[in-house]
Amino acid sequence: MRFYITTPIYYVSDVPHIGHAYTTIVCDALARYHRLRGHDVKFLTGTDEHGQKIARLAETAKVTPRHYADKFADAYRATWKALEISNDDFIRTTDADHEATVQELWRAMEKNGTIYEGEYEGWYCVACERFYTEKELLPGNICPDHKTKVELVKEKSFYFKLSQFTEPLLELYEKHPEFIQPPNRRNEVMAFVREGLRDLSISRTTFAWGVPVPDRPGHIIYVWLDALCNYYSATRRSPEAKQFWDDPSSQVVHMIGKEISRFHAVYWPAFLLAAGWRLPTTVFAHGWWTVDGDKMSKTLGNVVDPLKLANDIGVDAFRYHVLREIPLGADGDFNHEQFIGRYNAELANDLGNLLNRTLGMVHKYGIVPASAAADPFTVEKVTTAYGRAMDEFQPSKALEAIWELVRAGNGYIDQKAPWKPDAPREEILGNVLELCRVLSHLLEPVMPERSLALRAQLGVDEPTTWPAWRSHSFAVQAATPLFPRVDDDRKKELLERWRPKKAAATATTATTAATATEAKDDGRISFEEFGKVDLRVARVLSAEPVPKAKKLLKLQLDVGGQTRQVVAGIAEAYAPDALVGKSVIFVANLKPATIRGVESQGMILAAGGDTILGLSAIDKDVPPGTKVR
Ligand code: MSP
Repeated sequence: MRFYITTPIYYVSDVPHIGHAYTTIVCDALARYHRLRGHDVKFLTGTDEHGQKIARLAETAKVTPRHYADKFADAYRATWKALEISNDDFIRTTDADHEATVQELWRAMEKNGTIYEGEYEGWYCVACERFYTEKELLPGNICPDHKTKVELVKEKSFYFKLSQFTEPLLELYEKHPEFIQPPNRRNEVMAFVREGLRDLSISRTTFAWGVPVPDRPGHIIYVWLDALCNYYSATRRSPEAKQFWDDPSSQVVHMIGKEISRFHAVYWPAFLLAAGWRLPTTVFAHGWWTVDGDKMSKTLGNVVDPLKLANDIGVDAFRYHVLREIPLGADGDFNHEQFIGRYNAELANDLGNLLNRTLGMVHKYGIVPASAAADPFTVEKVTTAYGRAMDEFQPSKALEAIWELVRAGNGYIDQKAPWKPDAPREEILGNVLELCRVLSHLLEPVMPERSLALRAQLGVDEPTTWPAWRSHSFAVQAATPLFPRVDDDRKKELLERWRPKKAAATATTATTAATATEAKDDGRISFEEFGKVDLRVARVLSAEPVPKAKKLLKLQLDVGGQTRQVVAGIAEAYAPDALVGKSVIFVANLKPATIRGVESQGMILAAGGDTILGLSAIDKDVPPGTKVR
């Protein structure tokens, strides 16, 4: 059987975080599982490098888009290596062969009469790289996903006749319930398509960072059409790779996050139907991680760096946690404390101890253990359940099945009490060691490195394969804990390192308030204290950059008859000209300060941390100088 699994290709706009790592680890575990079953596997990941978002980021960084992309593509490659990701190929949308394949897809769609020329006028969110209808936006033309203002775009454009595919797509979903999973995502996608699809603008003319439309200078192909095609492009790279798409029995699985299901379950199959090419078997949309209960964001400073966790506690422990913590498809929360809790309970205790105590007794009693022909743990029943769970994209369930065995092993030792003088130690400990051997194979997709370390301690030299119980003898090695326990001091140290400073401060405040009732300072201020801040409406009269300070703008503000000068760190978010005439909220009684040699007589309020996301604004025409309260 052929099994082809893909991650989304990641934007080269930043370094990978836990969300990206999650999708990739899920795919890696599934790919390794299928290899274990002896299937022919192709596992693809890569980077999405074209489009307006990357072009603009590169422009701000004053480097070429290619240079910008190179840096982050390298960061992705390095992270995947560190996380033991076993991808067979890494595709970049700037690869020349991919660009040629995108044009081939365009030509095939065009030949079949599904593309026409027109003009597009509407809203575009550069962060999402997608068009929005007015109905889909939040009040004030705000992107519902990024909560930033969308842009009005008016330009010549080619359209794809997506509207023609409403019925064929509904038929596909009906006939193949496995096409979009899990069922809640399928229902969402079907409801969206049932409303009727509108034709889709698939080329842009106002910037150049993309794949050119064949024979139409000035037009570049819409970045999502370009990006989605990567899954197919990578299969054109060799005769063997080709089979993963062309062989009708090959299982083609796109693993994605839920926010991009429409692109994968509606647009992508419609493009393929239009070209007359085969469809993927399954698009599986997983849920999203929050962190300690909050949405992950740079502004909150709570973005989880997978490499940091992996370095501190072990790559395999991290992989295990994310796969075990949430059933694939559901949303979940990454809680740092629970991460350590699960590590200690399930890895250090359940699994680690099973091996340690067994090896310890083998050495102590100086025996040569050998397992019995009969399996006391019903391994086969569990491996079947494990296999079914992995086939159904449920690695968390597969791990539950494995832990049934781990617990059975510990229970067996307790019950058989090999320390008793008349106990048949060779057989009891041999059986547990055979169980550990089986486990070392089953765990490989999730913990590739630790499973080998486990097998090395058993003294068993064999490649990873789908295991079955067999009578065996063992030349066990010295026991070294697979997962050293994290004690309370280390736990404290790790939590301090991992948690964003702000969250740690909040937690401390809460604990202090709970334990010391006499403590009055809980971070809140009185009405009087707040009243001391003199907030005013101010209108921007002029704005100009501050020399040699790329984040700063010097603003002249009209504060009701008076002009005040302010230096604001908003240059990366606003062009000076875009600010003139805007009304903002101004702190009028702040002591003046000199910033980079320029006097600032107050400050204006803005949303965001290191990165400014938006300015405070007044939603009606209020005269400058009016008090804000
Ligand atoms: N470039 C597009 C995908 C094109 S595929 C043809 C893109 N890239 S992305 O860099 O934004 O990565 C998106 C993927 O990252 C999501 O689909 C999801 O897999 C993962 N995640 C990003 N944040 C996440 C969480 N907080 N939680 C879980 N996964 C999330 O979209």
